[in-house]
Amino acid sequence: MKDTREELSTLTVGLHWLVAAAIIGMLAFGLYIDSLERSPERGALMDLHKSIGVTILALACLRILWRWRNGMPVMLGRAPRWHKVAAHAVHGLLLLATVLMPLTGIMMSLGGGHGLALFGLTLVAEGAAKQATIAAIGESHGTIAWILIGVIALHVAAALKHQVIDRDGTLRRMLGRRIAG
Ligand code: HEM
Ligand code: HEM
Repeated sequence: MKDTREELSTLTVGLHWLVAAAIIGMLAFGLYIDSLERSPERGALMDLHKSIGVTILALACLRILWRWRNGMPVMLGRAPRWHKVAAHAVHGLLLLATVLMPLTGIMMSLGGGHGLALFGLTLVAEGAAKQATIAAIGESHGTIAWILIGVIALHVAAALKHQVIDRDGTLRRMLGRRIAG
């Protein structure tokens, strides 16, 4: 079940691609909603954005627990030390952002006096957690989103470099394939 150098576990691979697709989709979805005029339809899309975001928070926490138990994947190929440090830093930032995005979104909503619902199921009642400081911290949601977009671009460029230039199996291993030892 654990990750090895040659093969990553189903949980690592499954959570990576599930959270990756959800985060990329939610970044686009959030920016799209932001471009809309206020309307009941925008409100409904916002509710959907929040419900998916809360679900991502649960998955992201599960993933971080899994990484903590398992350690990060062992780097393939021969790379200078700074390269390993950079890769770990980028992975750490990505993991952090997967919890900071939903958390700041929740803070912005609750602090602003809105409730919190998960696909129609009320988790926090309207107005129950209205608090100006919490709302102000939550306002970093948009800024973190733009930083995350930059870090993801860097991460995808690195994955492509491993695939096309280094040809070291890094991408294949994250696609669930077993690579040569
Ligand atoms: C992985 C999770 C999430 C991602 C990637 C994400 C992404 C985004 C993005 C890109 C925007 C547009 C930012 C902008 O205003 O420039 C946005 C807006 C927003 N998000 Fe999220 N979001 C996530 C989760 C949540 C959650 C869980 C909530 C609340 C429970 C939430 C509440 C909001 C709100 C209220 C706005 C609108 C802000 C405004 O009107 O200016 N988000 N989100
Ligand atoms: C098309 C988009 C993506 C591609 C091609 C991709 C590719 C990869 C590859 C090949 C690895 C393995 C690195 C290694 O073995 O050292 C990896 C690891 C990782 N990726 Fe991505 N990735 C993508 C999107 C994302 C997104 C959107 C996130 C986060 C929001 C993310 C977060 C991570 C993290 C945290 C790791 C470290 C291992 C883990 O925790 O699963 N990736 N990615």
